[in-house]
Amino acid sequence: MLNIVIFGAPGTGKGTQSELIVKKYGLHHISTGDILRNEIARKSSLGVLADKHISQGQLVPDELIIDMLAGVLNETADGAKGYIFDGFPRTIPQAKALDKVLSERDTAIVAVLSLKVEEQDLIRRLLKRGQESGRTDDKLEVIENRMKVYREQTDPLRDYYKRKGTLLNIPGDGTVEEVFDEIVKEIDRLSF
Ligand code: AP5
Ligand code: MG
Repeated sequence: MLNIVIFGAPGTGKGTQSELIVKKYGLHHISTGDILRNEIARKSSLGVLADKHISQGQLVPDELIIDMLAGVLNETADGAKGYIFDGFPRTIPQAKALDKVLSERDTAIVAVLSLKVEEQDLIRRLLKRGQESGRTDDKLEVIENRMKVYREQTDPLRDYYKRKGTLLNIPGDGTVEEVFDEIVKEIDRLSF
């Protein structure tokens, strides 16, 4: 299976590139952020809880995310070619849980596409989106906290995947098409 993690700070283009990858390679897209925003819109108990964390730019607790992921994998266990995990994992316990749940299904992560963009450019992208479409966490003080949480809790995962030999660095500061071209080159080089 072609199981990929798309990894990077807020605004690096994980969601944008995931949609293109899904179209080209026919993978299931699992975005924990999108799932949580759906739960918030439905006002489910998970949504009410998640909203408290998301609106502050803090991570939602690992146990909730890991349970949610197991549920989504069970619902989609239908012979898919693979998954693209977007915005997950974000902590070491989440990464370990993902490895475990995939190995129980005799599969694994074959590549981690790590997107890098200068923080000032990311803040500009997210402020622009905040004005246009209004994601409630696209406000300067919340964005700054999301960046801090990323640096402290999520960026260390690059080392985790580097040790496993699956980390691929992708420059994320070109146009959407340029970044996608780089991603396609890396995916087409994979053997799995
Ligand atoms: P999540 O939804 O994952 O948000 P994020 O990581 O903060 O990142 P974004 O979705 O804002 O950015 P992106 O990298 O997807 O970029 P995009 O393509 O949208 O998480 C939100 C919150 O949910 C978290 O803060 C946390 O509270 C919670 N959460 C989620 N997952 C969790 C987990 N696993 N554990 C715990 N908590 C979790 O692009 C951004 C903008 O830039 C867009 O406007 C886009 O059009 C533009 N853009 C994209 N590419 C380019 C380009 N090449 N050039 C110019 N502009 C571009
Ligand atoms: Mg996203």
